Amino acid sequence: MNPIELLKQATIAQENSQSKYSKFPVGCAILTEDDSVVLGCNIESAVYPSTLCAERVAIYSALSQGITSFKAIAIVSNTSAKPCGSCRQIIYEYLGDLPIYISDGLSDEYSTHFIKDLLPYPFG
Ligand code: THU
Repeated sequence: MNPIELLKQATIAQENSQSKYSKFPVGCAILTEDDSVVLGCNIESAVYPSTLCAERVAIYSALSQGITSFKAIAIVSNTSAKPCGSCRQIIYEYLGDLPIYISDGLSDEYSTHFIKDLLPYPFG
């Protein structure tokens, strides 16, 4: 699966976003080692700190299914937002050194990042 196809999956996940408080829908798609795709979207709560980002929803979903090897991750939001600090930490710990594709989901343009650049001097 190429980056644009994976980003398209993230856009599909974004449509499921539960983000009525921020109105900032985010979608995530993770390509697993065996070429399946695990999706996640941000899920917000009236108890704001209980909100969880799209990236961690997808990563925790994969891990909870016993999937632990990954090839790539794609993230879509309206502003092509980079992952938050907590998500960077979890990407570092559980996904490792793989391409992180980011786009606004509106065109085929995207950027590619690696966690060593997004999270230098990591803990753990
Ligand atoms: N959000 C994500 O889903 N991923 C990020 O990396 C940054 C922020 C979500 C959390 C919240 O639902 C909304 O975006 C606004 O912060």
